[in-house]
Amino acid sequence: MLLRKSPSLEATIRSSEITPQHVFEQHQQTRRRFLASAATLGAAALAARTLPSLINPPTTVHAAGEPLKAIPSKYTLDDPQTPFAKASTYNNFYEYGTDKSDPSHEAYRLQTRPWPIQITGMVKKPQTINIDDLLHYRPLESRVYRFRCVEAWSMIIPWDGYSLSEFINFCQPLPSAKYVQFFSYNDKKVMPDEPSGYDWPYREGLRMDEAMNPLTLLTFGCYGQVLPNQNGAPVRVIVPWKYGYKSAKAIVRFHFTDKEPATTWNVADGREYGFYSNVNPNYDNARWSQAHERRLDTSLLPRNIPTQMFNGYGDQVASLYAGMDLKKFY
Ligand code: MTE
Repeated sequence: MLLRKSPSLEATIRSSEITPQHVFEQHQQTRRRFLASAATLGAAALAARTLPSLINPPTTVHAAGEPLKAIPSKYTLDDPQTPFAKASTYNNFYEYGTDKSDPSHEAYRLQTRPWPIQITGMVKKPQTINIDDLLHYRPLESRVYRFRCVEAWSMIIPWDGYSLSEFINFCQPLPSAKYVQFFSYNDKKVMPDEPSGYDWPYREGLRMDEAMNPLTLLTFGCYGQVLPNQNGAPVRVIVPWKYGYKSAKAIVRFHFTDKEPATTWNVADGREYGFYSNVNPNYDNARWSQAHERRLDTSLLPRNIPTQMFNGYGDQVASLYAGMDLKKFY
Protein backbone atom coordinates (compact mmCIF):
# COMPACT_ATOMS: atom_id res chain seq x y z
CA MET A 1 0.00 0.00 0.00
CA LEU A 2 2.03 2.86 -1.29
CA LEU A 3 0.99 6.45 -1.55
CA ARG A 4 2.26 7.54 -4.93
CA LYS A 5 4.26 10.73 -5.03
CA SER A 6 3.03 13.00 -7.79
CA PRO A 7 5.72 13.76 -10.37
CA SER A 8 5.20 17.41 -9.74
CA LEU A 9 3.19 18.96 -6.96
CA GLU A 10 2.75 22.13 -8.99
CA ALA A 11 1.05 20.13 -11.72
CA THR A 12 -1.81 19.40 -9.35
CA ILE A 13 -3.16 22.97 -9.33
CA ARG A 14 -6.53 22.97 -11.01
CA SER A 15 -8.01 26.13 -12.46
CA SER A 16 -11.17 25.78 -10.37
CA GLU A 17 -9.04 26.10 -7.25
CA ILE A 18 -7.54 29.43 -8.14
CA THR A 19 -10.44 31.13 -6.46
CA PRO A 20 -8.74 34.30 -5.21
CA GLN A 21 -8.32 35.60 -8.73
CA HIS A 22 -12.01 35.42 -9.52
CA VAL A 23 -13.00 36.81 -6.16
CA PHE A 24 -10.66 39.73 -6.63
CA GLU A 25 -12.02 40.22 -10.12
CA GLN A 26 -15.58 40.14 -8.87
CA HIS A 27 -14.66 42.68 -6.26
CA GLN A 28 -12.83 44.87 -8.74
CA GLN A 29 -15.73 44.70 -11.20
CA THR A 30 -18.15 45.74 -8.50
CA ARG A 31 -15.93 48.68 -7.63
CA ARG A 32 -15.51 49.68 -11.27
CA ARG A 33 -19.27 49.45 -11.85
CA PHE A 34 -19.81 51.58 -8.77
CA LEU A 35 -17.40 54.30 -9.89
CA ALA A 36 -18.57 54.33 -13.51
CA SER A 37 -22.23 54.57 -12.74
CA ALA A 38 -21.72 57.06 -9.94
CA ALA A 39 -20.99 59.61 -12.64
CA THR A 40 -24.41 59.21 -14.18
CA LEU A 41 -26.76 58.09 -11.44
CA GLY A 42 -27.75 59.68 -8.19
CA ALA A 43 -25.05 58.65 -5.73
CA ALA A 44 -27.49 57.97 -2.92
CA ALA A 45 -29.68 55.58 -4.94
CA LEU A 46 -26.63 53.81 -6.25
CA ALA A 47 -25.02 53.48 -2.86
CA ALA A 48 -28.16 51.86 -1.50
CA ARG A 49 -27.89 49.25 -4.24
CA THR A 50 -24.15 48.64 -4.30
CA LEU A 51 -22.75 49.31 -0.86
CA PRO A 52 -24.01 46.14 0.76
CA SER A 53 -21.90 44.02 -1.57
CA LEU A 54 -18.87 46.24 -1.02
CA ILE A 55 -19.21 46.16 2.73
CA ASN A 56 -20.06 42.49 2.69
CA PRO A 57 -18.25 40.91 -0.28
CA PRO A 58 -19.71 37.77 -1.79
CA THR A 59 -19.25 34.62 0.20
CA THR A 60 -16.71 32.41 -1.45
CA VAL A 61 -17.72 28.82 -1.23
CA HIS A 62 -14.41 27.61 -2.52
CA ALA A 63 -14.61 24.73 -4.96
CA ALA A 64 -18.32 24.26 -4.36
CA GLY A 65 -19.76 22.42 -7.31
CA GLU A 66 -16.75 20.16 -7.49
CA PRO A 67 -18.44 16.91 -6.62
CA LEU A 68 -16.65 14.23 -4.66
CA LYS A 69 -17.36 10.59 -5.14
CA ALA A 70 -18.47 9.45 -1.70
CA ILE A 71 -20.29 6.23 -1.00
CA PRO A 72 -23.13 6.12 1.54
CA SER A 73 -22.12 4.81 4.96
CA LYS A 74 -23.80 3.31 8.01
CA TYR A 75 -23.35 6.66 9.75
CA THR A 76 -26.69 8.34 9.19
CA LEU A 77 -28.97 10.33 11.49
CA ASP A 78 -32.68 11.04 11.50
CA ASP A 79 -32.18 14.64 12.64
CA PRO A 80 -32.71 17.34 9.97
CA GLN A 81 -29.40 18.37 8.40
CA THR A 82 -27.99 21.84 8.79
CA PRO A 83 -28.26 23.65 5.45
CA PHE A 84 -24.97 23.90 3.55
CA ALA A 85 -25.38 27.70 3.44
CA LYS A 86 -25.33 27.78 7.26
CA ALA A 87 -22.46 25.31 7.69
CA SER A 88 -20.31 27.31 5.28
CA THR A 89 -21.01 30.78 6.69
CA TYR A 90 -21.06 30.19 10.45
CA ASN A 91 -17.51 29.06 11.11
CA ASN A 92 -14.64 29.10 13.54
CA PHE A 93 -11.34 29.47 11.69
CA TYR A 94 -9.50 32.08 13.73
CA GLU A 95 -6.66 32.41 11.24
CA TYR A 96 -9.31 34.18 9.12
CA GLY A 97 -10.84 36.31 11.86
CA THR A 98 -12.85 35.77 15.01
CA ASP A 99 -16.38 36.55 13.80
CA LYS A 100 -18.41 33.60 12.66
CA SER A 101 -18.87 35.14 9.21
CA ASP A 102 -15.19 36.13 8.72
CA PRO A 103 -13.91 32.80 7.35
CA SER A 104 -16.55 32.69 4.62
CA HIS A 105 -15.36 36.10 3.41
CA GLU A 106 -11.63 35.72 3.96
CA ALA A 107 -10.60 32.09 3.56
CA TYR A 108 -10.60 32.33 -0.24
CA ARG A 109 -6.99 33.52 0.24
CA LEU A 110 -5.89 30.00 1.11
CA GLN A 111 -4.29 28.17 -1.83
CA THR A 112 -5.02 24.49 -1.39
CA ARG A 113 -2.73 23.20 -4.16
CA PRO A 114 0.07 22.30 -4.07
CA TRP A 115 -0.40 20.96 -0.52
CA PRO A 116 2.42 18.81 0.84
CA ILE A 117 1.68 16.97 4.08
CA GLN A 118 4.42 15.94 6.50
CA ILE A 119 4.43 12.76 8.55
CA THR A 120 6.90 13.23 11.41
CA GLY A 121 8.00 11.95 14.80
CA MET A 122 7.73 8.36 15.98
CA VAL A 123 7.06 6.62 12.69
CA LYS A 124 8.94 3.98 10.78
CA LYS A 125 9.77 6.41 8.01
CA PRO A 126 9.16 10.17 8.23
CA GLN A 127 8.02 11.42 4.84
CA THR A 128 6.11 14.04 2.90
CA ILE A 129 3.14 13.12 0.75
CA ASN A 130 0.76 15.23 -1.28
CA ILE A 131 -2.90 15.91 -0.74
CA ASP A 132 -4.18 14.29 -3.91
CA ASP A 133 -2.56 10.99 -3.04
CA LEU A 134 -4.09 11.21 0.42
CA LEU A 135 -7.49 12.06 -1.08
CA HIS A 136 -7.42 9.06 -3.38
CA TYR A 137 -5.90 6.61 -0.90
CA ARG A 138 -9.25 5.15 0.19
CA PRO A 139 -12.85 5.43 -1.02
CA LEU A 140 -14.61 8.36 0.59
CA GLU A 141 -17.70 7.72 2.69
CA SER A 142 -20.46 10.19 3.35
CA ARG A 143 -21.04 10.25 7.11
CA VAL A 144 -23.73 12.30 8.76
CA TYR A 145 -22.45 13.35 12.18
CA ARG A 146 -23.57 15.56 15.02
CA PHE A 147 -21.08 18.39 15.33
CA ARG A 148 -21.09 20.08 18.74
CA CYS A 149 -19.18 23.26 19.50
CA VAL A 150 -18.07 24.21 23.02
CA GLU A 151 -19.94 27.49 22.48
CA ALA A 152 -23.07 25.33 22.76
CA TRP A 153 -24.29 25.39 19.18
CA SER A 154 -24.52 22.26 17.12
CA MET A 155 -25.07 21.21 13.54
CA ILE A 156 -25.83 18.03 11.63
CA ILE A 157 -23.39 17.75 8.75
CA PRO A 158 -22.66 15.13 6.12
CA TRP A 159 -18.86 14.89 5.96
CA ASP A 160 -16.93 13.04 3.23
CA GLY A 161 -13.79 11.15 4.12
CA TYR A 162 -12.43 7.88 5.45
CA SER A 163 -11.39 6.72 8.91
CA LEU A 164 -8.21 8.39 10.13
CA SER A 165 -7.09 4.93 11.28
CA GLU A 166 -6.54 3.94 7.63
CA PHE A 167 -4.08 6.75 7.17
CA ILE A 168 -2.40 6.12 10.54
CA ASN A 169 -1.78 2.53 9.49
CA PHE A 170 -0.12 3.86 6.37
CA CYS A 171 2.10 6.12 8.53
CA GLN A 172 3.34 3.08 10.49
CA PRO A 173 3.74 4.68 13.93
CA LEU A 174 6.24 3.03 16.26
CA PRO A 175 4.78 1.16 19.27
CA SER A 176 6.18 3.96 21.46
CA ALA A 177 3.89 6.54 19.78
CA LYS A 178 0.98 7.25 22.12
CA TYR A 179 -0.49 10.41 20.56
CA VAL A 180 -0.92 12.01 17.16
CA GLN A 181 -0.74 15.76 16.80
CA PHE A 182 -2.22 17.81 13.94
CA PHE A 183 -0.67 21.04 12.72
CA SER A 184 -2.71 23.45 10.61
CA TYR A 185 -1.32 25.56 7.81
CA ASN A 186 -0.08 28.97 8.88
CA ASP A 187 1.04 31.89 6.77
CA LYS A 188 0.44 35.51 7.72
CA LYS A 189 0.52 36.49 4.06
CA VAL A 190 -2.74 34.70 3.38
CA MET A 191 -4.06 35.08 6.94
CA PRO A 192 -3.82 38.82 7.51
CA ASP A 193 -6.58 38.84 10.14
CA GLU A 194 -5.03 36.18 12.32
CA PRO A 195 -5.38 37.43 15.91
CA SER A 196 -2.31 37.75 18.11
CA GLY A 197 -2.21 36.11 21.52
CA TYR A 198 -2.35 32.54 20.22
CA ASP A 199 0.56 30.25 19.67
CA TRP A 200 0.17 29.65 15.92
CA PRO A 201 0.04 27.37 14.01
CA TYR A 202 -3.23 25.89 15.24
CA ARG A 203 -2.48 22.56 16.88
CA GLU A 204 -4.62 19.73 18.11
CA GLY A 205 -4.06 16.16 19.13
CA LEU A 206 -5.62 12.84 20.08
CA ARG A 207 -4.56 9.85 22.08
CA MET A 208 -3.70 7.07 19.66
CA ASP A 209 -6.71 4.91 20.57
CA GLU A 210 -9.01 7.91 20.00
CA ALA A 211 -7.39 8.60 16.65
CA MET A 212 -7.74 4.92 15.70
CA ASN A 213 -11.43 4.77 16.63
CA PRO A 214 -13.34 4.22 13.37
CA LEU A 215 -15.52 7.29 14.03
CA THR A 216 -12.58 9.68 13.71
CA LEU A 217 -12.79 10.92 10.16
CA LEU A 218 -10.07 12.23 7.89
CA THR A 219 -12.25 14.67 6.02
CA PHE A 220 -11.94 16.07 2.51
CA GLY A 221 -15.47 17.21 1.78
CA CYS A 222 -18.92 17.93 3.07
CA TYR A 223 -22.34 17.75 1.45
CA GLY A 224 -20.78 15.72 -1.37
CA GLN A 225 -18.45 18.56 -2.38
CA VAL A 226 -14.84 19.47 -1.81
CA LEU A 227 -14.52 21.18 1.60
CA PRO A 228 -15.01 24.92 1.32
CA ASN A 229 -11.87 26.70 2.50
CA GLN A 230 -13.75 28.09 5.48
CA ASN A 231 -14.54 24.53 6.60
CA GLY A 232 -10.90 23.47 6.58
CA ALA A 233 -9.88 22.60 3.02
CA PRO A 234 -8.17 20.63 1.77
CA VAL A 235 -8.12 18.21 4.72
CA ARG A 236 -9.24 18.28 8.35
CA VAL A 237 -10.23 15.84 11.03
CA ILE A 238 -13.70 15.39 12.48
CA VAL A 239 -14.00 13.84 15.94
CA PRO A 240 -17.75 13.75 16.48
CA TRP A 241 -17.81 12.92 20.22
CA LYS A 242 -15.56 15.87 21.10
CA TYR A 243 -16.09 19.62 21.02
CA GLY A 244 -15.50 21.13 17.59
CA TYR A 245 -12.14 22.68 18.40
CA LYS A 246 -10.50 19.22 18.41
CA SER A 247 -11.26 19.08 14.68
CA ALA A 248 -8.20 20.83 13.26
CA LYS A 249 -8.57 22.35 9.80
CA ALA A 250 -6.21 22.70 6.83
CA ILE A 251 -3.75 20.12 8.19
CA VAL A 252 -0.17 20.12 6.91
CA ARG A 253 1.51 17.84 9.40
CA PHE A 254 0.76 14.69 11.39
CA HIS A 255 3.23 14.27 14.24
CA PHE A 256 3.48 11.07 16.31
CA THR A 257 4.74 11.39 19.87
CA ASP A 258 4.84 9.65 23.24
CA LYS A 259 3.88 12.83 25.18
CA GLU A 260 0.45 14.42 25.43
CA PRO A 261 0.82 17.16 22.84
CA ALA A 262 0.21 20.85 23.35
CA THR A 263 -3.03 22.06 21.78
CA THR A 264 -3.89 25.62 20.81
CA TRP A 265 -6.90 26.12 23.08
CA ASN A 266 -5.38 24.25 25.99
CA VAL A 267 -2.31 26.49 25.83
CA ALA A 268 -4.55 29.58 25.54
CA ASP A 269 -6.63 28.63 28.60
CA GLY A 270 -6.06 25.25 30.18
CA ARG A 271 -8.84 25.71 32.75
CA GLU A 272 -11.43 26.11 30.09
CA TYR A 273 -10.22 23.79 27.34
CA GLY A 274 -8.94 20.41 28.42
CA PHE A 275 -6.97 18.02 26.28
CA TYR A 276 -9.82 15.47 26.10
CA SER A 277 -12.70 17.85 25.38
CA ASN A 278 -15.28 15.10 25.26
CA VAL A 279 -18.82 16.42 24.93
CA ASN A 280 -20.16 16.15 28.47
CA PRO A 281 -23.48 17.71 29.52
CA ASN A 282 -22.56 17.16 33.19
CA TYR A 283 -19.39 19.22 33.11
CA ASP A 284 -19.70 22.91 32.33
CA ASN A 285 -17.01 24.84 30.64
CA ALA A 286 -16.09 28.00 32.57
CA ARG A 287 -18.12 30.19 30.22
CA TRP A 288 -20.90 28.03 28.81
CA SER A 289 -23.25 25.49 30.34
CA GLN A 290 -22.89 22.29 28.33
CA ALA A 291 -26.23 20.80 29.39
CA HIS A 292 -28.08 22.14 26.34
CA GLU A 293 -27.19 23.20 22.84
CA ARG A 294 -28.67 25.40 20.14
CA ARG A 295 -29.22 23.16 17.15
CA LEU A 296 -28.72 25.06 13.91
CA ASP A 297 -30.77 23.30 11.27
CA THR A 298 -33.67 24.04 8.98
CA SER A 299 -35.80 25.55 11.76
CA LEU A 300 -36.27 29.28 11.55
CA LEU A 301 -34.80 29.78 15.02
CA PRO A 302 -32.16 27.62 16.72
CA ARG A 303 -33.76 24.78 18.67
CA ASN A 304 -32.65 24.36 22.27
CA ILE A 305 -32.11 20.65 22.95
CA PRO A 306 -30.43 18.61 25.70
CA THR A 307 -26.85 17.61 24.97
CA GLN A 308 -26.00 13.91 25.04
CA MET A 309 -22.95 12.40 26.73
CA PHE A 310 -20.18 11.92 24.15
CA ASN A 311 -22.50 13.78 21.77
CA GLY A 312 -24.58 10.62 21.44
CA TYR A 313 -21.66 8.38 20.44
CA GLY A 314 -21.20 6.71 23.85
CA ASP A 315 -21.78 3.20 22.50
CA GLN A 316 -18.74 3.57 20.27
CA VAL A 317 -16.39 5.53 22.52
CA ALA A 318 -17.27 5.34 26.23
CA SER A 319 -14.95 2.34 26.69
CA LEU A 320 -11.96 4.52 25.70
CA TYR A 321 -12.40 6.35 29.01
CA ALA A 322 -13.29 3.48 31.32
CA GLY A 323 -12.08 4.23 34.85
CA MET A 324 -11.14 7.85 34.09
CA ASP A 325 -12.58 10.74 36.07
CA LEU A 326 -13.99 12.84 33.21
CA LYS A 327 -14.23 15.92 35.44
CA LYS A 328 -10.50 15.73 36.00
CA PHE A 329 -9.68 14.72 32.43
CA TYR A 330 -12.12 17.18 30.84
N1 MTE B 1 -8.82 24.73 12.92
C1 MTE B 1 -8.03 25.79 12.71
N2 MTE B 1 -6.91 25.65 11.98
N3 MTE B 1 -8.32 27.03 13.20
C2 MTE B 1 -9.44 27.23 13.98
O1 MTE B 1 -9.67 28.36 14.43
N4 MTE B 1 -11.41 26.24 14.99
C3 MTE B 1 -11.94 25.02 15.62
C4 MTE B 1 -12.00 23.86 14.60
N5 MTE B 1 -10.77 23.79 13.84
C5 MTE B 1 -10.30 26.13 14.22
C6 MTE B 1 -9.95 24.87 13.64
C7 MTE B 1 -13.26 25.24 16.19
S1 MTE B 1 -13.29 26.18 17.61
C8 MTE B 1 -14.38 24.70 15.66
S2 MTE B 1 -15.87 24.81 16.50
C9 MTE B 1 -14.40 24.04 14.36
O2 MTE B 1 -13.11 24.06 13.72
C10 MTE B 1 -15.39 24.71 13.44
O3 MTE B 1 -15.52 24.00 12.24
P1 MTE B 1 -16.54 24.55 11.15
O4 MTE B 1 -16.22 25.96 10.89
O5 MTE B 1 -16.39 23.67 9.93
O6 MTE B 1 -17.93 24.42 11.76
